[in-house]
Amino acid sequence: MCKQGIMLALGLILVGCGEAQQAPPFTPVADTKLLMESVIDPAADVVWDSVKTIITAEGMEEIRPHTEEQWTAVRNAAMVVTESGNLLMMAPRAVDSDEWMKAAQAMVETGQQAIRAIEKRDADELFVVGGYIYDSCTNCHSKYIDEIVNAQTN
Ligand code: HEC
Repeated sequence: MCKQGIMLALGLILVGCGEAQQAPPFTPVADTKLLMESVIDPAADVVWDSVKTIITAEGMEEIRPHTEEQWTAVRNAAMVVTESGNLLMMAPRAVDSDEWMKAAQAMVETGQQAIRAIEKRDADELFVVGGYIYDSCTNCHSKYIDEIVNAQTN
């Protein structure tokens, strides 16, 4: 190997080691439970509550976003749900690198579907996609909540 080749190889080894030693620059503040309570659940409620039908003795009331402010508010909430899926994939929240990641990705994907429905101002589609978001929550909960609660009590 020529001198430059050895220097290059040495450089790559140094770069490789440097990256491995560096701690990630982010600081997760909320654990999974608090992230659910303070960020994900309130935002998902805004999305779910934005399109619904209330039946009373007086008749049916259709709730839909109408004004630009209302559409922006539900867009912002859908964005919080969507990006929170990425927060769930970060250490130390990620429980494993397989099923957990898929469950969190499903939250990102259904959140994106909601954002697209909102951009189209399509309340009916938003209602349907709200169901998909809900499924993404319960899919992960049914797999992981018992496991985590058991790990804490054992
Ligand atoms: C990738 C997995 C995952 C996804 C997706 C997920 N959750 Fe969770 N969630 C958890 C886990 C794990 C816990 C239990 C945390 C604990 O008790 O330590 C939890 C707990 C909760 C709790 C209870 C918090 C408490 O006070 O004990 C709520 C509410 C909640 N999630 C709402 C949601 C909603 C709404 C969604 C979907 C928009 C969602 N979650 C999606 C994993 C997930």
